[in-house]
Amino acid sequence: MEKKFKRTLITTALPYANGPVHIGHLAGVYVPADIYARYLRLRGEDVVMVGGSDEHGVPITLRARKEGITPQEVVDRYHTIIKDSLEELGVSFDIYSRTTSKLHHETASEFFRHLYDKGEFTVQTALQPYDEKSGEFLADRYVVGTCPRCHNENAYGDQCEACGSSLNVTDLINPRSALTGEPVKMRETTHWYLPLDKWEPKLREWILEGHKEWKTNVYGQCKSWLDAGLQPRAVSRDLKWGVPVPVEGAEGKVLYVWFDAPIGYISNTKELLPDTWEKYWKDPESRIINFIGKDNIVFHCIVFPSML
Ligand code: MF3
Ligand code: ZN
Repeated sequence: MEKKFKRTLITTALPYANGPVHIGHLAGVYVPADIYARYLRLRGEDVVMVGGSDEHGVPITLRARKEGITPQEVVDRYHTIIKDSLEELGVSFDIYSRTTSKLHHETASEFFRHLYDKGEFTVQTALQPYDEKSGEFLADRYVVGTCPRCHNENAYGDQCEACGSSLNVTDLINPRSALTGEPVKMRETTHWYLPLDKWEPKLREWILEGHKEWKTNVYGQCKSWLDAGLQPRAVSRDLKWGVPVPVEGAEGKVLYVWFDAPIGYISNTKELLPDTWEKYWKDPESRIINFIGKDNIVFHCIVFPSML
């Protein structure tokens, strides 16, 4: 009873532009996607394959800091390297773009603004680690301190790699900034959250009833997320690099990288097909197939569908 679709949009996970692509990217995502796209084209089907570089997020800003260059210089360098590698390997993208493009910034910004205007976000104020020396909020990963369980002195704010415990920043003894080594202070900050819990019943039905054909590990991971109960997820961050949150009073805040990156699939389709992109996204006769890495499952199966 497989449904026949009129057209297929193939998306490939957008690689972070903070290093070259390696064999794992190719084996896991780009070669399988390429094989499938070529197969559908040979069958004469209407197929579009989109890709691009994921050029936001904290690690890019840290690499820039380490090398004494700007984040833009980091992504310019790696976007070119990645794009050339994929081209030389013969991966048959219809478009390979990037999330620092003007079109992507506009698209992601409008997407956020639309949900904001409809009242789809909730707002929460929470304490976040702050580095007074560099004047920045820190992602949990960039706070280090002593593990309360095994006393390893270099545990991260999200995990201790010595004993494997998962941690919160507030669990660390003597937390300090990984950037400057300064002691970390907690400071209040406000963010916008996507209430995934609101979409849970819909997701349950759509995934657990409607997509039994997904790979076992994908289906299983979704089921365990759903069974644990979904929580609201922050879609903004205190950072200077990214798509600015398009709301008054949100200076110094950008969209969380995992909010803007999947919207990259939309902006890439738009850039390729300015007049006809909508039918690939909105027509029930169209299907989307996402080629992704295993760490990307929750974002593609639960978060992005909730955003859409
Ligand atoms: N950059 C992410 C990674 O390498 C993948 C982003 S996929 C997208 O894990 F959907 F967000 F674009
Ligand atoms: Zn430990």
